[in-house]
Amino acid sequence: MITYDIPQMEPWIGDEERNAVNDYMRSGGWLTEFKLTKRFEDMIAEYTGAKHCIVVNNGTISLTMAALACGVSAGDEVIVPNYTMIATPNSIKLLGATPVFVDIEPSTLCMDVHLAKKAVTPKTKAIMLVLANGRYPEAGIDAFMELSQETGIPVIEDAAQSLGSRYPNGVHQGLMGKVGSFSFSAPKIITTGQGGALVTNDDELAFKLRRLKDFGRSGGGNDIHDTIGFNFKFTEMQACIGIEQMKKLQWRVDRKKDIYRLYQQELDNVSGVSFFDQDLANTTPWFIDILAIQRGSLEDFLKQRGIGTRDMYPPINCQKAYHVGGDYPVSKMIGTNGLWLPSSSQLSNEMIKYVCSIIKDWSQNGK
Ligand SMILES: Cc1ncc(COP(=O)(O)O)c(C=O)c1O
Repeated sequence: MITYDIPQMEPWIGDEERNAVNDYMRSGGWLTEFKLTKRFEDMIAEYTGAKHCIVVNNGTISLTMAALACGVSAGDEVIVPNYTMIATPNSIKLLGATPVFVDIEPSTLCMDVHLAKKAVTPKTKAIMLVLANGRYPEAGIDAFMELSQETGIPVIEDAAQSLGSRYPNGVHQGLMGKVGSFSFSAPKIITTGQGGALVTNDDELAFKLRRLKDFGRSGGGNDIHDTIGFNFKFTEMQACIGIEQMKKLQWRVDRKKDIYRLYQQELDNVSGVSFFDQDLANTTPWFIDILAIQRGSLEDFLKQRGIGTRDMYPPINCQKAYHVGGDYPVSKMIGTNGLWLPSSSQLSNEMIKYVCSIIKDWSQNGK
């Protein structure tokens, strides 16, 4: 049997990206965001069907900007899931607001809408719905939209992991709520090294977001400032990479789905591991996530054979940075048993079958 060294994740940058950056650098451009950034924004807007796309320096700041633009300020509360990358609640903390944690659905790892409803207080200014691994809530996105309409509280979609994922009604994730946020950090389906994007169909909100990222300037390049803003801008070098990555997106979307299907097929009925619900007709799994009953044992077994894995996020309320009480059985269980398997788009079918053969060996002999 051939053996491989297989990392859990690798970014994928090709000659197209390298040449695009080289060509740009030779052209004597200004480096800061300009025409290529606009083209990258247009490509994302076209792909997702958004009226507006605003790219920024990362997918944490984009969440902070979304919250700011929705009126969140110090002392307010924002409802967030207890299972997510820590950037979600941290983006709220940056504003001096308080993230209020609620547990998730065990099938989709998205926020439980019934618990979200119970967490609403007069101080609640937004709900940040994380679309975990491109999934949408089993209760349906409409349940969140109804909650938003009943309470007047806007929904911000943290779609960091969701480029290429849609709701069953065909709307791309990020576009059902007031505003949606993507990340282009290195492990994402497309990367610009660091980077984030906001999508919205709301003209006024888009205007606010554009001003917020550019020092509150009243017009392109001037020094007239009617509002406070910051510098959350992108660069043309990142746009060079992003444009080339976007050209490869559809292939990657299809490949991610095929990889997920192959893992499911190979690990069907293997004791000790199980999958969550993933609607492959509409959504694109960013990572291959599973539940492993004896996670540590499986991780060691794979590591000894050159195969990388990564523990899924621990429950945020238990992180030292937060350390808040409460009962969150589902996120606690994911923090104990959730495991990401090798997930790069560039994995060959042979590599995936090899990983699965090692997992089968562990299941039969190694547990
Ligand atoms: C759900 C979620 N939200 C926010 C972020 C933050 O994005 P960035 O790393 O671009 O700041 C990430 C990144 O991994 C994420 O997975």
